[in-house]
Amino acid sequence: MPDSNTSCFQSHHELLANLEGTVGENLGFLAPIDRAWQPTDFLPDLATENWKDQLADFRDQAREISDELLVVLVGDMVTEEALPNYSVSLNVIARDEQGDAPRPWAQWLRGWTAEENRHGDLLNAYLRLTGRVNMRSVELTVHHLIARGFNPKTNEEPYSGLVYTSFQERATRISHGNVAKLAGAQGDANLAKICQRISGDESRHETFYTRMFDKVLDLDASGGVLAFRDMMRGLISMPGRLMYDGKIPDLFDQFAAVAQRLEVYTVHDYARIIDHLVKTWRIGERSVTGPAAKAQDYLCRQAERYATFANRIREYQASRPPARFSWIYDRKA
Ligand SMILES: [Fe+2]
Ligand SMILES: [Fe+2]
Repeated sequence: MPDSNTSCFQSHHELLANLEGTVGENLGFLAPIDRAWQPTDFLPDLATENWKDQLADFRDQAREISDELLVVLVGDMVTEEALPNYSVSLNVIARDEQGDAPRPWAQWLRGWTAEENRHGDLLNAYLRLTGRVNMRSVELTVHHLIARGFNPKTNEEPYSGLVYTSFQERATRISHGNVAKLAGAQGDANLAKICQRISGDESRHETFYTRMFDKVLDLDASGGVLAFRDMMRGLISMPGRLMYDGKIPDLFDQFAAVAQRLEVYTVHDYARIIDHLVKTWRIGERSVTGPAAKAQDYLCRQAERYATFANRIREYQASRPPARFSWIYDRKA
């Protein structure tokens, strides 16, 4: 007899395969490549006569960025640069075994990867040109993170992969959007524009994944609610969790503490995302029975639980002393 989880995941894979038509209709959430932005559009043009002036102006603006914001930006960039890890793990949804399958899910995964690839590229180029950070240390961190890998804790369950991506795309949209606001307030219009644009990409991705999971719930309410509950039982694993610069063992936590202090991405955001997803997917209205009804109840109480937890985390983070980051030449942030 097949293991019940295996056969259940198998049927989930079949349901996702049946969504190929819907995925095809939603491929418009990828930007048409000939009209898409590229990193070059936001950087000084080093091929023109006045490149020195352009570069000087670019660096002048970047001088205004605080060390704390730089640390958050590096952490975001390192996370984006570990894209190979995310593409590998998202193949649990796309199941593109040959690598160039024409099926809509496979097209989506490749198109998504291609769009995400620009995020790391652009932030990397921005940071390098500013001369504000220790690029070798940043590169070493990226190298470690990709080599260490990434486990979204979706346990090869394809539905969970969609919950995970809906959550993470919204989280990155919020975080890049907040960096954009702070950069603008600190006087770097270039960085503000860069992060705003990246945030716009994340927003399109979020809409796509959220719609796809909504479709799953329409077709398999019990399976969807149970998968969502399983993801919520633990903390959503953050994509850059295993980052390491060769020095600080809990580098991610240190970076997350700065992000929390600057209110770029906080535990309250985490709670609000869960609340948003529960409402958007109309979890409370899904008609389910048995264990799925219990899971439904559990999910509807999640945001409230996290909000209480979030207050405790905020107090703890606020009391944490600043740490030294190799990314900014061992200065404190
Ligand atoms: Fe991204
Ligand atoms: Fe994204």
